[in-house]
Amino acid sequence: MKFFSSTLFATICAVILAASQTVHADDPPQAVDIILAIMPDSATCNGKTAECTTAADAAPYLIQGFQIYQVSHAAEIGAILATVGTESVDLAFRTNQSPGRPGQGSSNMQLYENNLEFARSNKNLTEGLNRIEGVSENPTDDIKNAVRELVIADPFNFWTGPWFYSTHCTDAQKAAFTKKGATEQELDDAFSDYSLSCVGVETTADGRMERWTEAKKAFGLSE
Ligand SMILES: *[C@@H]1O[C@H](CO)[C@@H](O)[C@H](O)[C@H]1NC(C)=O
Repeated sequence: MKFFSSTLFATICAVILAASQTVHADDPPQAVDIILAIMPDSATCNGKTAECTTAADAAPYLIQGFQIYQVSHAAEIGAILATVGTESVDLAFRTNQSPGRPGQGSSNMQLYENNLEFARSNKNLTEGLNRIEGVSENPTDDIKNAVRELVIADPFNFWTGPWFYSTHCTDAQKAAFTKKGATEQELDDAFSDYSLSCVGVETTADGRMERWTEAKKAFGLSE
C-alpha cells in the first residue's frame, strides 16, 4: 500500500479511543500501534520524569496537530513522527536536556524562536502569551522558558511537529513526500532532505533513520 490517508489514520485513532477499553487481538493497526512502532520506548513513563507522555496519551493530540496543520500524506506523517520520536527520545522529554538551551522544547524540540513563532501564530496560545511580560525575539532566559512552558503544555506540545513542517519546509520538500508513485529510494531522499535542510539535522545519529524505517513499515511505504 502506497497511500494511507490521514482520514483513515484519524478514523483508526477514533476507533482506538472509543474502544480503548475493549481492544481485540484481531483489530487492524491502530494509531497508538503506529506511534509505538516508530517510538518503541513510549509504551510507558515508568522511571521517567514528569515531562514524559505515553503513546496512548499523545496519540489524540498528535492526530489533532496533523488535522489542524493539514498534513495528510502517510510519508509526511511518518517523517514528522520519526522526527518527534528522535527529538523527544520517544516522548520522554519536552525540554532540551543537552546542553539545556533556554526556551528550546516541545515534541520536536524546536528552538525558542520557533516556539515564539508558533505561540504567536495559534490563537489558542494568544491569551497565555499576552500574560508573559517582556516577550521579544531575544528576551531573558526566564522569559524564553516561560514561552516554552506555554507551548509544551498538552495538547500544544504535540502540534509543533506538524506546525513546523507546514510552515518551515519548502513546497519542493513537501512534494517529494507526496509524489504519486514515489519509490522507497525517493522517499528516503525526501526524508534526508527534509531532515537536513528543513529540520536542520543529520540523519545518521540518534536513531533517526531507524525510526524513519519503522515509519515506512508502519504506513506500508516499504517495498
Ligand atoms: C484551538 O484549540 C481547539 C481545541 O483543542 C482546536 O479544535 C482548534 O483547532 C485550535 N485552533 C487552532 C488555530 O489551532
